[in-house]
Amino acid sequence: MTDQIHDRLLIIDFGSQVTQLIARRLRELDVYCEIHPYQNVDADLIRDMAPKAVILSGGPDSVTRDGSPRAPDALFDMGIPVLGICYGQQVMMQQLGGLVEGGKISGGGGTAEFGRAFVTPEGQLNLLDGWFGDGKEQVWMSHGDHVSKLAPGFEVYGTSPNAPYAITADTTRNFYAVQFHPEVHHTPKGAKLYENFVRLAGFAGDWTMGAYREEAVQRIRDQVGNKNVICALSGGVDSSVAAALIHEAVGDQLTCVFVDHGLLRKNEAEEVVGMFRDHMNLQVIHADETELFLGELEGQSDPETKRKIIGRLFIDVFQKYADQIEGAEFLAQGTLYPDVIESVSFSGGPSVTIKSHHNVGGLPEKMGLKLVEPLRELFKDEVRALGRELGLPDHFIGRHPFPGPGLAIRCPGEITRAKLDILREADAVYIDQIRKHGLYDEIWQAFCAILPVRTVGVMGDGRTYDYACALRAVTSVDGMTADYYPFTHEFLGETATRIINEVPGINRVTYDITSKPPGTIEWE
Ligand code: XMP
Repeated sequence: MTDQIHDRLLIIDFGSQVTQLIARRLRELDVYCEIHPYQNVDADLIRDMAPKAVILSGGPDSVTRDGSPRAPDALFDMGIPVLGICYGQQVMMQQLGGLVEGGKISGGGGTAEFGRAFVTPEGQLNLLDGWFGDGKEQVWMSHGDHVSKLAPGFEVYGTSPNAPYAITADTTRNFYAVQFHPEVHHTPKGAKLYENFVRLAGFAGDWTMGAYREEAVQRIRDQVGNKNVICALSGGVDSSVAAALIHEAVGDQLTCVFVDHGLLRKNEAEEVVGMFRDHMNLQVIHADETELFLGELEGQSDPETKRKIIGRLFIDVFQKYADQIEGAEFLAQGTLYPDVIESVSFSGGPSVTIKSHHNVGGLPEKMGLKLVEPLRELFKDEVRALGRELGLPDHFIGRHPFPGPGLAIRCPGEITRAKLDILREADAVYIDQIRKHGLYDEIWQAFCAILPVRTVGVMGDGRTYDYACALRAVTSVDGMTADYYPFTHEFLGETATRIINEVPGINRVTYDITSKPPGTIEWE
């Protein structure tokens, strides 16, 4: 366990899909917390950690089943405030002398309940200060079983049509229990409950991203020891922040491989390598394999074939360079929490889903490498905050996402060097326009695609026969859905004029106004 001075909160994880969201809500309140699977938590662990409060998470099991998960009984005699959520509520009731029953599927008075519900108040409770709006509050329910008899000392403070014990508490012992999930988005004011809980438990709110950085550095040192680490640096925010953090922890034991497939944007390789190697003193191998990639892509126009070629070559190239690094035992990856969210398993931790291009999926087993994933508890915006904390420049941290296959999927049809050169120039002018108009940070992703079509134009007295390009700009929260960005006609006209004047090879500019769905963000 990390040795630290700030207040600690222990989350006992009973396997809910959303336990990490509790941790996130607490980090937003500057509260340090650790999630421990219930199997690992005994009275000694709690005494050693000395948490100022404990949260019991939700979970998929039924407390009515023999052998189902429990909290250590001793927890309830330690004088520590406890908040139970969903399964955590039922565990508390069962262990403290109440009753839980299996859910019926329909009908009132304590049945299974999935989805939105409204809770109405019953009396005053400090946990609920400032919470109830106009007499009721929306919450997210997801439970089969329900509490049918409260444990001694508990009283009801909120009910919903199907959960007569939606909010309960034993205020003498500072035990609180809710049937719903305050950590999810669908409980709009859920964060307020966590805020009230940590306030009544006496947290100072003294934990910051700076503290997270220190602890993450210590964890990496503990894990890696004196062994070497390799990292596929893409220049994207995730791999960049992971590399910077690991470098801070183990210095030159980290070597980054920047695979340059020749499908990067204008000056991108120089900027990334320059920043990490020259500015931040990381050991970076610039693997310039343009010839290899463009050679194998020659004549290929099918989107999936292009992606597969790039994915395969990426792994080959990374392995080739990694093999040259002596004593590498660890592979660093910028895996984020949304990548791991799939399941929080009962076997003691989350199972990983690896995205196909981002990383070197499959390599760890093939090369006998262990993984270092220092960002796997964080969400994207937290990674950005950590990046700032580590001194990465703002313009770098705020960069739009860029796909692993790079410009290959912005060049529909056959890829040629000439088309890539034209695309790089057009894209640079477009992004420059967006930055100059102060729009960059409002847009999730903006880029130019070069179309596999040439059109006739007239410039001066001459006829032109050049490529058309499409501008794309979308707003999005997570890239899963997107809306096209509503540029003004003035902006679009000015940008088209600049591209045609400044980029030889393009004589027509279009703006893509497709949302996702039905379109995708990229053109391929
Ligand atoms: P689509 O085009 O599927 O893109 O709407 C959604 C988001 O994912 C990015 N993207 C990729 N990122 N490897 C990546 O690392 C890929 O193969 C890939 N394909 C799409 C895309 O840029 C957008 O942000």
